[in-house]
Amino acid sequence: MELFSKEGITVDYSVLCTAIVSLLRGLMCSGLYSLSLSGDDETHIRINSESIYVRQDRRPYWVKKFYLRFRHWYAEHFLRPACDELGPHHTIMKPWYVGIDGPNITIGRCATIIGEPQAPVKIGVWGREPMAGEITIGDYVLISPGCRISASDRISIGDSVMMANGVYITDCDWHGLYDRTERDAEVYPVVIKDNVWLGDHASVLKGVTIGENSVVGAGSVVTRDVPDNVVVAGNPAKVVKQLDPARVIKTRAEYFADPVGQAQFFDAVDKMVLKENGTWNWLRALIKPSVRD
Ligand SMILES: CC(C)(COP(=O)(O)OP(=O)(O)OC[C@H]1O[C@@H](n2cnc3c(N)ncnc32)[C@H](O)[C@@H]1OP(=O)(O)O)[C@@H](O)C(=O)NCCC(=O)NCCS
Repeated sequence: MELFSKEGITVDYSVLCTAIVSLLRGLMCSGLYSLSLSGDDETHIRINSESIYVRQDRRPYWVKKFYLRFRHWYAEHFLRPACDELGPHHTIMKPWYVGIDGPNITIGRCATIIGEPQAPVKIGVWGREPMAGEITIGDYVLISPGCRISASDRISIGDSVMMANGVYITDCDWHGLYDRTERDAEVYPVVIKDNVWLGDHASVLKGVTIGENSVVGAGSVVTRDVPDNVVVAGNPAKVVKQLDPARVIKTRAEYFADPVGQAQFFDAVDKMVLKENGTWNWLRALIKPSVRD
């Protein structure tokens, strides 16, 4: 059944249904700017378009703006009440794939948390008693898809800590070696100091303190304390390198020094990059993407 025709495009009922489904998919799943810090001074802006099947972001500015507002509303509405404190200027991407459970969870300002459908983020306190246990996360942290932070007693994460995909941090084995029904009565807090970088799928186990600026290699399992300013790697993780004390380390704290100005900058970039994108062409690209999209 033909519904209407405009600019040579005929829209019938089935096209309209496909458009609505695609639109919802596009709105719920499509891209946001994901920010990363590189070794040099550049800011990389990557437009994540995996869910809308296009090479370019065809969204009109208003669609992206609407999506970002919705995303922010969702985080404020559902995630803020799950925390004792959630600092301002957060960027929580796909917040519907971020789970925050349990008492005494605080997250500082300018947090970047990235949920993904296949790799949700889980931050949870399962204390020994009601309202026991805590997770304290500092300012400017990066929590990538698939990260799990599970506290029995206390996990403390400093400022500007970066957690790559699939990082696991726990302060408890959750079962005893000889009593698989109970956790150990002993408490083994985990402390991750400022500016630590945990590589892809690194695990940090009970009782560990990781020193300032230190880096944990991809896939490493940290079972013992790590000093400041070193690189550790392997299973169990061992020191493989000392960081050069003569070199200055640029941190996420500097990157987020002016979050309001930064938000205005990205908004201006959006306006400029997306200004040619018309609503009809975006809908057409959602329904019937071509190689030029
Ligand atoms: C930790 C890391 C940053 C160090 O890089 P680097 O300084 O260039 O280290 P090198 O390649 O010089 O390696 C030094 C030694 O550690 C070993 N090593 C490095 N990373 C390792 C790892 N993840 N697991 C086991 N060993 C590792 C190297 O084999 C090398 O050993 P050798 O001296 O016996 O040859 C890097 O190895 C790494 O793991 N990168 C992944 C980062 C990541 O997950 N990024 C995701 C985005 S946040």
